[in-house]
Amino acid sequence: MLHHAVMQIRDFGIEIWMNRWETTCRYNLAETCVESITVDALLGLAGMDPDDFLAELLPMRLTYGAIVGTDRLRSAIAALYETATPDDVLVTHGAIGANHLAYLALIEPGDVVVSIVPTYQQHTSIPESLGAEVRLLRLREERGWLPDLDELRSLAAGAKVIALVNPNNPTGSLLGEAGLREIASIAEHEGAWIVADEVYRGTDQDGAGTSPSLVDLYERTVGIGSMSKAFSLAGLRLGWVTAAREVLDAVSRHRDYSVISVGMVDDLLASIALEARDALLGRNRAIVRENLASLDAWVTAEPRISYVKPQSGTTALLRYESDLPSESLCLRLLETEGVLFTPGSALDAEGYLRIGYANNATTLRDGLARTSAFLATLATGRPGTTAGSRT
Ligand SMILES: Cc1ncc(COP(=O)(O)O)c(C=O)c1O
Repeated sequence: MLHHAVMQIRDFGIEIWMNRWETTCRYNLAETCVESITVDALLGLAGMDPDDFLAELLPMRLTYGAIVGTDRLRSAIAALYETATPDDVLVTHGAIGANHLAYLALIEPGDVVVSIVPTYQQHTSIPESLGAEVRLLRLREERGWLPDLDELRSLAAGAKVIALVNPNNPTGSLLGEAGLREIASIAEHEGAWIVADEVYRGTDQDGAGTSPSLVDLYERTVGIGSMSKAFSLAGLRLGWVTAAREVLDAVSRHRDYSVISVGMVDDLLASIALEARDALLGRNRAIVRENLASLDAWVTAEPRISYVKPQSGTTALLRYESDLPSESLCLRLLETEGVLFTPGSALDAEGYLRIGYANNATTLRDGLARTSAFLATLATGRPGTTAGSRT
């Protein structure tokens, strides 16, 4: 008898949506990376002569390289934290690989995970697929998309893991040091780990742009980082985990089965980028701040859209006034104007659209203008008549 192995994991809503549409749309307002940088521009920011870079690259023999990541790279990653050393870091295939390995290392069937949602879906679906009981702490717009800590305290009873994304995707909210310390004390009371996905760290709207990492505030943090978002280098497919020895050893055991090592060229470019992090984050801070100013002006002027203005990250949740379900609205907008947003339905946030505003400034402005034209056509319909035309 043929035996069908069924993988008990949900469809990854956002990745399915992005894979389907991101290469064919005209105005991509769904992308969450800060506008990706060329190798040429990166070397320029790093003050590196391209010939010197080639002198490093050309003699490189393309072996598996340093299995856990080069010392140079792990030192540059450790320098992003106050308390991490290079030995506390394992390099992975993107943060997507890091998150996956973190849950494989931490979760056994029956464990309780509290996940703060909406979130990047790995933080609910992977633990669920590993047999965890996943409890959802829902962020609410009226609280500025920040968690209710009393609710967290009661949900966290008996939890092994609390999972959060900070700065937050999709809402753009930011937990500062005081809020993180409170969450840490709730976790500590339970002896729980915190999986802190901090891939947007370094994109704050205010101050120097980088606020504290939970890694430096709570020992049982499993810190997740990436070159993709704040560092605008998704093409490297390079992320990392930093955690206490016992978790890192377990991550390493799983990593041997699915990673071996990351690419040597990626490791080199990530090292160069992180060694030039002040310049690179400076470029990216200017992009997120200027683009959010454009978005904010648009939201203010657009009668059918409202939002909580982001404090950090590259995304915002836009509330829209229409009876259309978010996916229908996004598909119509895509068909008529070529503008791509992410429907809230792909993020368990129906009634909202997610915008990624940190990409090309002209695309953002033009895409928003077309969105206004589209919303104006919706407005001419009588209230309620649009709801029947689901696609
Ligand atoms: C919160 C969060 N974590 C992880 C990832 C995956 O990033 P990477 O490109 O490093 O794999 C994303 C990508 O959208 C994300 O938003």
